[in-house]
Amino acid sequence: MTIKTARLLLRELRPSDVSEAYVAWLNDPEVSQYLETRHSIQNMDTVRTFVEMVLARENEHLFGIFLHDGRHIGNIKVGPVRAYHNLADVSLLIGARDCWGKGYAAEAIEAASRHAFATLGVRKLCASMYAPNEGSRRAFLKTGYREEGRRRDHYVLDGTPCDLVELGLLPEDL
Ligand SMILES: CC(C)(COP(=O)(O)OP(=O)(O)OC[C@H]1O[C@@H](n2cnc3c(N)ncnc32)[C@H](O)[C@@H]1OP(=O)(O)O)[C@@H](O)C(=O)NCCC(=O)NCCS
Repeated sequence: MTIKTARLLLRELRPSDVSEAYVAWLNDPEVSQYLETRHSIQNMDTVRTFVEMVLARENEHLFGIFLHDGRHIGNIKVGPVRAYHNLADVSLLIGARDCWGKGYAAEAIEAASRHAFATLGVRKLCASMYAPNEGSRRAFLKTGYREEGRRRDHYVLDGTPCDLVELGLLPEDL
């Protein structure tokens, strides 16, 4: 299934979508500075294996973010969906740096969040980011997510402890 927005198409990511450009996003220190992938060098095989692994999990929904002309610019994931609580995490990456600052993250977050509530029947969505990741925080807040907490000195960033910001979204916030 494909989710269409004004400027984007979101559809299930396939192993065949893994390209040299996608691998290069993950190996770009600026793109990965706040991602856990920064700890290892990625290649076509590691990324394909990641996509296959996520596809095999019934409670995770990994979408590629594409421009209407078919260019793959990033990914957004809903999940894992925690069955009893009916909660899910949302995480994303706009890997193509020339696409930053154009509102694509906020557009993808809104579309994936609506899909999670309407089609997947999720009750609440959660997102978290390293405190200095202002772009990510603002993209989620713009969509209606609210700040619910801050884990102090939770992760280590370049050798220094760093807060983790926790956001949440209920259907009425959208
Ligand atoms: C963070 C990221 C998702 C933002 O994507 P984007 O498409 O550039 O975001 P948007 O254009 O929708 O911007 C949303 C808001 O954040 C602001 N913003 C974007 N990048 C910013 C930055 N680096 N610093 C400060 N503000 C920023 C935008 O100006 C916009 O502000 P507005 O509320 O005034 O409109 C993207 O840079 C990215 O994927 N980075 C690498 C991976 C990553 O960090 N993912 C998130 C992990 S939690």
